[in-house]
Amino acid sequence: MANTDWSAWHDAYAAPGSGLSDRLAAVRSQIDRVLDTTAPNPLRVVSACAGDGRDLLGVLARRSDAGRVTALLVEYDAVLAARARQTAAPLPARVEVRQADAAQSDVYSDAVPVDLLLLCGIFGNISDRDVRRTVEAARQLSAPGAEVIWTRHRGEPDLTPSIREWFAAAGFEELAFVAPESDTWSVGVHRLVAPPRPLEPGRHWFTFLR
Ligand SMILES: C[S@@+](CC[C@H](N)C(=O)[O-])C[C@H]1O[C@@H](n2cnc3c(N)ncnc32)[C@H](O)[C@@H]1O
Repeated sequence: MANTDWSAWHDAYAAPGSGLSDRLAAVRSQIDRVLDTTAPNPLRVVSACAGDGRDLLGVLARRSDAGRVTALLVEYDAVLAARARQTAAPLPARVEVRQADAAQSDVYSDAVPVDLLLLCGIFGNISDRDVRRTVEAARQLSAPGAEVIWTRHRGEPDLTPSIREWFAAAGFEELAFVAPESDTWSVGVHRLVAPPRPLEPGRHWFTFLR
């Protein structure tokens, strides 16, 4: 595990001009849209490297239909996982926060396939090869028609064109790519249009580099 203080990293959500709060708003609005378009059906969600879960949990906290959501949040950091658990506790959704390595396929075996997969704050912290491997793994976590919401900065060298190609090659169609000119963050949304693949046990998809 690399040595970034991810708990401190979350402080930037409150810092004006950090861009993170705008990115959060974009992610939340996509989660809201998924909830709207799937209502009133049950919705299964996985968030890998969930941090304190503020994207999904923030949306669920203000929705009257949160009770149809079952979510697994996988986060390695004990402080952030505890914070996510605390935020989730009063919600009517069934939320499990698992303090575990989100790179291990086995972590998801009892939670997949899901209708919504959050891969936020991952692709900027792992190697390009691991990004590709994780994009391909998304097909193993997804139910038919599932949506994946992902983020990645567009600092040089901008990997997002490749990521979007990798999603297409892995059987996903692009629903949205939010990339403001005024900042370098981006939020992508892809829907699985190919048949899902079974979850391969014992796989390790990525390693954080920082
Ligand atoms: C950039 S933050 C993103 C958090 C959250 N998804 C968000 O967008 O606000 C990356 C998170 O991944 C967690 N993390 C890093 N490597 C991990 C791993 N192998 N398994 C689970 N969590 C991991 C860190 O502790 C950190 O909370």
